[in-house]
Amino acid sequence: MALLPLVTLFLALLLLPFSSLSQPSTTNLSLLMAIKSSLDPQGLVLSSWSPNATDPCNASFVGLACNEQGQVVNITLQGRGLSGKIPPEIGQLKSLSGLYLHFNKLHGVVPAELANLTNLSDLYLNVNNLFGDIPRQIGDMPNLQVLQLCYNKLTGNIPTQLGSLKKLSVLALQSNQLSGAIPASLGDLMMLNRLDLSFNRLFGSIPVKLADLPLLKVLDIRNNTLSGNVPLALKRIDEGFQYANNAELCGINFPSLGICTASAQDTNGPKPFGAATSHLPAKDIPESANVQHNGGQQSRKSQSAAVVGLVCLIVAVAVAGLFSFSWYRRQKQRIGSAFDSNDARLSTDQAKEACRRSASPLISLEYSNGWDPLAKRQDVSSFSQEVLESYMYNLDEVESATQYFSEMNLLGKSSFSAIYKGMLRDGSTVAIKCISKISCKSDEADFLKGLKLLTSLKHENLLRLRGFCCSKGRGECFLVYDFVSNGNLLHYLDVSAGKALDWPTRKYIIKGIAKGIEYLHKSQSHKPTLVHSNISAEKVLIDQHYNPLLSDSGLHKLLADDIVFSTLKGSAAMGYLAPEYTTTGRFTEKSDVYAFGMIIFQILSGKSRITQLNCHGAEISRFEDFIDANLAGKFKESEAARLGEVALLCTHESPNHRPDIGAVMQELNGIPSSSC
Ligand SMILES: *[C@@H]1O[C@H](CO)[C@@H](O)[C@H](O)[C@H]1NC(C)=O
Ligand SMILES: *[C@@H]1O[C@H](CO)[C@@H](O)[C@H](O)[C@H]1NC(C)=O
Ligand SMILES: *[C@@H]1O[C@H](CO)[C@@H](O)[C@H](O)[C@H]1NC(C)=O
Ligand SMILES: *[C@@H]1O[C@H](CO)[C@@H](O)[C@H](O)[C@H]1NC(C)=O
Ligand SMILES: *[C@@H]1O[C@H](CO)[C@@H](O)[C@H](O)[C@H]1NC(C)=O
Ligand SMILES: *[C@@H]1O[C@H](CO)[C@@H](O)[C@H](O)[C@H]1NC(C)=O
Ligand SMILES: *[C@@H]1O[C@H](CO)[C@@H](O)[C@H](O)[C@H]1NC(C)=O
Repeated sequence: MALLPLVTLFLALLLLPFSSLSQPSTTNLSLLMAIKSSLDPQGLVLSSWSPNATDPCNASFVGLACNEQGQVVNITLQGRGLSGKIPPEIGQLKSLSGLYLHFNKLHGVVPAELANLTNLSDLYLNVNNLFGDIPRQIGDMPNLQVLQLCYNKLTGNIPTQLGSLKKLSVLALQSNQLSGAIPASLGDLMMLNRLDLSFNRLFGSIPVKLADLPLLKVLDIRNNTLSGNVPLALKRIDEGFQYANNAELCGINFPSLGICTASAQDTNGPKPFGAATSHLPAKDIPESANVQHNGGQQSRKSQSAAVVGLVCLIVAVAVAGLFSFSWYRRQKQRIGSAFDSNDARLSTDQAKEACRRSASPLISLEYSNGWDPLAKRQDVSSFSQEVLESYMYNLDEVESATQYFSEMNLLGKSSFSAIYKGMLRDGSTVAIKCISKISCKSDEADFLKGLKLLTSLKHENLLRLRGFCCSKGRGECFLVYDFVSNGNLLHYLDVSAGKALDWPTRKYIIKGIAKGIEYLHKSQSHKPTLVHSNISAEKVLIDQHYNPLLSDSGLHKLLADDIVFSTLKGSAAMGYLAPEYTTTGRFTEKSDVYAFGMIIFQILSGKSRITQLNCHGAEISRFEDFIDANLAGKFKESEAARLGEVALLCTHESPNHRPDIGAVMQELNGIPSSSC
């Protein structure tokens, strides 16, 4: 009885995918389920890939994009923590043009069946744990433009067949365990722009044909065991040619290379593999493929026309965007300090836009020039270029640290930025703040001045800036900070007794914040006086030793004025904004002191909400009523009273009556640190 409806349901479900064949949709659901269970055996990541779905193409499957005919064209699942294998079944998704599976933990081999994807242009399998050979069949993919297999554990030779990939512009094979010689056939890749073979076990010489490729911009062969004469033609790509740590390379006009001896010179002949490799076992030497390239000229032309078109479009959009924003900004500045709710809404959209763009898998195409050309400007002569450069990160590094800005690593978003957790190659953990360029100061010299200031700030109570990276191409800047493990001060307010801070820790945090502010306010040889202007409990980070670190110091020096205004709304709502700001519209040291006073109140009361009434109404003598009940009396009343007094002075209505931070510091120093 009860079985019948179930059976009907089951049948209906079975038939659903097929009934959808009457529509244009041809996506085979059971095929997608096979792909899902292989990529994500535990079903933790692709739970949205439901076997009950009527139409996988209706945007309900994460990472799946279809064309109008209902065929899967993109699978975009980078940085998702996938831990399975690449299923051979993917080869049946005939219309696939982009397969983005990089920055995962996939293991197993690269299936030869992928080569059945004749429409595939982008294959990103980099930064996984793939092993085995690179399938030679990949050479048969007529539309492949980007082949990213770097940072895996691939072994064997580079297949000579890759020389048939007529449209290939990026071939990234670095950091694998590839051996054998560099196939001379790679010299037939007329569209090749970037070739990275570094950190492998390749030997033999550099094929001369490779050096003559017309579009080649980057050739990286570092850390291999290559030998023989380096073709002089590579001089042309200048710094794009990286060859360090190949003990037996030689050549003229390359710094750090010795002059070739007679026997080595032989290798510069037409032979693909010179004398230097002749003693090696023959099986390790791939035969050179004699690939014809008919029609290569034609396709190159249309290809570069398309690239030029794309670049123009991007530039046009960026210029239009910048223009309308600076116009908008000027309008806002005229209005002055008045808060406008539009500010926040617009900048949220900007931040979303910035971070949506981060997800584009095509970005790494530009990674060879991740350095910001901004920094090479001449008109900022006061800059110590060296200091700035020591702070520069490569876009590539930022991308791999955050696993391609993966959602998993998103720590938070504010109205104008997104913050990601990341791990640098040296193993250290960082927080990376991503700011869209349109939120930044539009004058580049001002922006650079701000960056210079940020790099000059060093104090034990300020969050350390490790570096930055600006990408004009992406319209984004990234600030790389130390990662702080215990969150911000807000996490310790409004909590239950078990999680509340003890008394000595509260005093320690208050003193630490004051020290940080004192450092900012003091002018020193390497830094001018700086007003933080946005101090709040949220900006106070707590490290593993409960040391407070003030974050975002100097950040407003990078941001456009309207963005700065919009950030203030939050602090106004929380009561951190000094009353005179509304009349003068200016920040001073005394407005920082005001915000600090509010934080003392918060720490004493253990509550994030402080109203003027409950702090200024409180008589100092009855301060115990104000103190956090979670302390259960475990605090020194005299100390609490002194701190309360400091807080009252700091939050005085009139800035002239507030002490400066030096005086505050003196008073705080009079309170012993370790007593209870
Ligand atoms: C769907 O995919 C499965 C598994 O690959 C295959 O066996 C089946 O024939 C396909 N069905 C259709 C209608 O293409
Ligand atoms: C799919 O169907 C099964 C059984 O028919 C059910 O248990 C499951 O909850 C359904 N999943 C979704 C996402 O609807
Ligand atoms: C897509 O289809 C699923 C059922 O298969 C449905 O729950 C969902 O609302 C649909 N989404 C859209 C955007 O139509
Ligand atoms: C597939 O990805 C490419 C490259 O990112 C993109 O240009 C294209 O619009 C995507 N197609 C769909 C249907 O999302
Ligand atoms: C491959 O792409 C071309 C051009 O976009 C298209 O006409 C063709 O139908 C695609 N092939 C498949 C199998 O989807
Ligand atoms: C797909 O590729 C495999 C291995 O390269 C091959 O044996 C098979 O015939 C191909 N299938 C189709 C349908 O082209
Ligand atoms: C690169 O080569 C140098 C010199 O041979 C060596 O010291 C270094 O460890 C190598 N680096 C890697 C990552 O293999």
